[in-house]
Amino acid sequence: MPLTLRTVDAAEPDDRRVLVRDDFNVPLDDGRVSDDLRVRASLPTLRHLLERRARVICCSHLGRPKGKRDARYSLEPVAGVLGDRLGVEVAFVDDVVGDQAARAAQQLEPGQVLLLQNLRFEPGEEANEPDFADRLASLAELYVDDAFGAAHRAHASVVGVAERLPAYAGYLLASEVKELSRLLEGPERPFVAVLGGSKVSDKLAVLSNLLGNVDSLVIGGGMCFTFLAAQGHEVGDSLFEPDQVDAVRDLLARAEREGKRILLPTDVVVADDFVEDAEHRTVPAGGIERGWRGLDIGPDSAKAFAAAVRDARTVFWNGPMGVFEWSAFEAGTRAVAEAVATTDAYTVVGGGDSAAALAKFGLDDKVDHLSTGGGASLELLEGKDLPGVNVLRES
Ligand code: 3PG
Ligand code: MG
Repeated sequence: MPLTLRTVDAAEPDDRRVLVRDDFNVPLDDGRVSDDLRVRASLPTLRHLLERRARVICCSHLGRPKGKRDARYSLEPVAGVLGDRLGVEVAFVDDVVGDQAARAAQQLEPGQVLLLQNLRFEPGEEANEPDFADRLASLAELYVDDAFGAAHRAHASVVGVAERLPAYAGYLLASEVKELSRLLEGPERPFVAVLGGSKVSDKLAVLSNLLGNVDSLVIGGGMCFTFLAAQGHEVGDSLFEPDQVDAVRDLLARAEREGKRILLPTDVVVADDFVEDAEHRTVPAGGIERGWRGLDIGPDSAKAFAAAVRDARTVFWNGPMGVFEWSAFEAGTRAVAEAVATTDAYTVVGGGDSAAALAKFGLDDKVDHLSTGGGASLELLEGKDLPGVNVLRES
């Protein structure tokens, strides 16, 4: 059933204090934001609120500090980046729901922006403690959730506050839900999903749900070795999850029964060590010797995967095909990224690693929808209800 959300367009934010939950869980390098995709993605909603002369209080988590203050996870560096992108000064307060935060929120004028300290410095956030949710909600009159990447977490800033204030979906969250839902609701065919990344255990539920919707599943990355092993191949020292073999066999059998194509690598780039300058060579996927591990799909597989993408009308891609960060092992991921970027099919890319790969190859603006959600996008595609989306449903 298509899901209708109450969006920020229905809000009356003028002059009012609006608490905006963003997902500013960005990668930091030496205290500097090294990839600001999530900050840029937050801008349309914030610009809208500022045009309406709202008093904007942004909040987010960063990393997993587990309810304790930890300077490594301070959101302060994000305030500068956000301010630059918005073209408005963003004040930062080193407090979440204490007196300092309350005072800073109180002093905001229309058109001003405040960023609170990392929500996860407070134990009440992840536990969705009523007292913490009360205090967070008391900072504002309205609540806007634009943190799609955290929509699968039933935390205070996602669910608790939405139950306490008039709550709306921001533009990012609404568009993520809309675009990802298109993959599950009558996608144009053929629909091909390309899955990679290291662990099959992380992706099995999404593979299983997608199998009902796709025409082909294309499997690369570290997880392909569990598939190859399930087919009886030697995988040498490659990543391999023995406890997933039975589940993978079931999935392969189901695909065959349902007439779905599963495309696995036929050749693999193997290395003698997990280091950037390891000795490496291309071998058939069917027989990787001990002492060698697959770090990328091989050139024949890359061609076949790219062709599968080119033949599709709808493409979903999540997870790199190999260790694309290292140039010797980037070719498979590059081939998939280029095919996804150049097809005129409807293309959706999810997960931080695929987004980073697109950015590395200069292709990140060449897809129809680049999701800011990792776990959240996968859970949505698993067919699960996301708590952060549920609370924003139009009733
Ligand atoms: C993410 O990066 O996937 C989101 O920000 C959620 O982070 P979490 O997995 O720590 O809840
Ligand atoms: Mg396109």
